[in-house]
Amino acid sequence: MRGILQFVFLAKVIHIVGSHNVRESVAEVESDSEVESGQFFSHLYKSNLQQMVKIKNDSLDPCDDFYAHACGNFEQTMEEDPDETLPPYLYNKQDRMTFFSAQVGNFETPPGKLISQLYAECRKRGENHVFGVSPSRSHYGRLLEEIPFLAAHKEVLSSWPFLRHQWERRHLNGQLNWIVLSAQLAAHGLPTLLRIYFALETIYVSPMEDLPCPSVDEFKSSLSDVLKGRHRQVSHIIAHEMRVLCRGMRGELSLVRSLTSNRGTTTSKPRQEQLLLDENTIDYFQIFFAALNFSKEQLEIARKFPLDVEKISQAWDVLRQTEPRIVYNYVMWQAREQLRYPDCYKISEEFERLLHSEYWQWHVLNSHLSREVALASYQLHTTRFQKLRRSNLSRRDWFGHLWPASVEKKELQVARILQAHAQNYLNITELNETYGNLGFVNNSFHGNLLILRRAQLRHSFVSPYVDEEDVNQSAYFLRHFLHFVLLSLHRPTYHYYATQGLELWRQSRLLLDTDGRYSAMDCLEKQSFQNYNAESAPIYRPLSSEEIGEIFHFYRSFQASYRDYHFWLQGERFAFAETLVLQFFGLDPQKVPFYAVAQQLCNRQTEIFAAQLNRGYMNMPEFQNAFKCRTEKPMNPSSRCMINMCE
Ligand SMILES: *[C@@H]1O[C@H](CO)[C@@H](O)[C@H](O)[C@H]1NC(C)=O
Ligand SMILES: *[C@@H]1O[C@H](CO)[C@@H](O)[C@H](O)[C@H]1NC(C)=O
Ligand SMILES: *[C@@H]1O[C@H](CO)[C@@H](O)[C@H](O)[C@H]1NC(C)=O
Ligand SMILES: *[C@@H]1O[C@H](CO)[C@@H](O)[C@H](O)[C@H]1NC(C)=O
Ligand SMILES: *[C@@H]1O[C@H](CO)[C@@H](O)[C@H](O)[C@H]1NC(C)=O
Ligand SMILES: *[C@@H]1O[C@H](CO)[C@@H](O)[C@H](O)[C@H]1NC(C)=O
Ligand SMILES: *[C@@H]1O[C@H](CO)[C@@H](O)[C@H](O)[C@H]1NC(C)=O
Repeated sequence: MRGILQFVFLAKVIHIVGSHNVRESVAEVESDSEVESGQFFSHLYKSNLQQMVKIKNDSLDPCDDFYAHACGNFEQTMEEDPDETLPPYLYNKQDRMTFFSAQVGNFETPPGKLISQLYAECRKRGENHVFGVSPSRSHYGRLLEEIPFLAAHKEVLSSWPFLRHQWERRHLNGQLNWIVLSAQLAAHGLPTLLRIYFALETIYVSPMEDLPCPSVDEFKSSLSDVLKGRHRQVSHIIAHEMRVLCRGMRGELSLVRSLTSNRGTTTSKPRQEQLLLDENTIDYFQIFFAALNFSKEQLEIARKFPLDVEKISQAWDVLRQTEPRIVYNYVMWQAREQLRYPDCYKISEEFERLLHSEYWQWHVLNSHLSREVALASYQLHTTRFQKLRRSNLSRRDWFGHLWPASVEKKELQVARILQAHAQNYLNITELNETYGNLGFVNNSFHGNLLILRRAQLRHSFVSPYVDEEDVNQSAYFLRHFLHFVLLSLHRPTYHYYATQGLELWRQSRLLLDTDGRYSAMDCLEKQSFQNYNAESAPIYRPLSSEEIGEIFHFYRSFQASYRDYHFWLQGERFAFAETLVLQFFGLDPQKVPFYAVAQQLCNRQTEIFAAQLNRGYMNMPEFQNAFKCRTEKPMNPSSRCMINMCE
């Protein structure tokens, strides 16, 4: 199967890419007998199509209500095969998870190996439960053993959470200190009372934006394991104390407001950008930076930006007014909750940069396809529509949205740009150095997680700030490329056009057109009015202007992506095979994209999508061409909208 996948990839680029490397690898694969048999029918391709066919319901006519037809058996399919079937809109993510969990054990770079170990330990931690063996250690027990700064107080902490009489009787004030605990945790990437983060030689201090503050009952139930066997009142008292504290810090209690306003009148109000350090905050910063082991010079040079000072001061006023014991309980409670880490896959998202640097080194991808081929293939997908539009749209429009101005070039070289990004952002030498010798301990998931978070935090202090969601930055671009690669390993090509290809068009804003939108608005309103009756209400119901905007944009993006798919098919030597395979399932390349897109929306707000998707589809000449609806059918209105759009 690998051979086949590889061939599909190579065939995809052979016409477009003249590079010797690619041709050589093509030659290599072509000698493979599997490929010469001309079978492109991979298992994945087959199961995808099988699922698509299963989800649609042929007793519902596509020309009556396409959405209902395409999703008609969705629920039954889910019931029959809950493991096999996944809501289609999640499958791209599922593909990445599958690939990650299959390959994580084979990671070869030092950063990749850290992720590998962490993931294995995370999974192992769960297995105790799976096999019904009572876990040898509780979650909390593990934390006390694995995290060094907790282990130091293991004896005392085993009776956490603390009531006042315990705290006093055992003189815990001298032993346990919430400032130390919270600052230590924060230095290990687990903020509880204050958020401190870095960009290149810059320190930001901000209040906790979403300080967790569940109801008393939720607090109680989260404590039920550690308070097993204690009197009911104990858990109520402790939960109530924490609840009052967190509400106070969030400024939800009037008591607190009057406290702060009193303070404001007696002392001069702090200037907005100036953080007044009280003893607590000074201690906190000292411990925090000591735990991160920054040098004195580093700290002195760094620019410091306190944000929302008033909110910080208000919250820390509350801390000062609260018994240290209660704050300690609350900080520990947060740590315990945050470290539950129920979904081990999250490791790959939390440490995405390390993961992507592993992927970029290509060790685990080599057996599927070479990096050159992947780059060439991606280049085709992204520049393909760039090229076509370039003559018609101003360069600014296009480049401005996907490329930083600095990389504007006459000929875009996606591969080269990606290489440059990777050399910088996924610089393996730098990551080797930063993440080498972290001192991971075997079988210590939580301890190692905190070690890695601390390293990440330290790294952020010496790296330029990266907004991972910024389309102009390398992190985003590289992520898109790698997602593209993984998607293509798992899905037939039409899925690319139905998901990422479509998304690319939708996000590009290239297709926004105010005039077109207004005429669509008029036309769609008229269409609702003309065709509305009790039976067709779900499809022809009146639409809000936002909905019309959506439909208009969807319509144009879908058409563009549809054309891309067909353009790709035309260029491929194996297009005939795609047609044959699809025919076997009663589908064809004209119809497949309509299903692939519609089925991503199954079971999600039917009343909204039934109207929006159908109205988009019914007005497309491509839809009529594919489904050949008779004239009196709801999906074939006598007058269509949006067909005369200028490009
Ligand atoms: C298909 O739709 C029809 C009409 O709604 C319904 O009666 C039938 O149960 C559906 N088929 C399956 C297999 O669920
Ligand atoms: C802290 O940094 C110094 C030099 O900057 C280094 O010698 C020392 O080993 C570091 N300590 C720890 C615990 O990382
Ligand atoms: C670009 O413009 C040409 C004529 O100027 C037109 O024929 C073509 O369809 C347009 N292409 C696109 C993709 O807009
Ligand atoms: C990306 O860069 C372009 C020009 O350099 C800018 O106009 C655009 O707003 C940027 N996009 C984002 C999301 O920052
Ligand atoms: C990173 O570390 C690994 C193993 O220590 C080594 O094989 C590799 O050459 C290093 N890479 C770079 C670029 O330093
Ligand atoms: C990669 O990191 C190393 C070590 O930090 C540095 O010397 C080198 O210049 C970096 N390379 C690039 C392309 O940024
Ligand atoms: C940790 O485990 C690895 C692999 O299981 C093993 O090679 C290594 O020696 C262990 N290290 C220690 C310190 O036990």
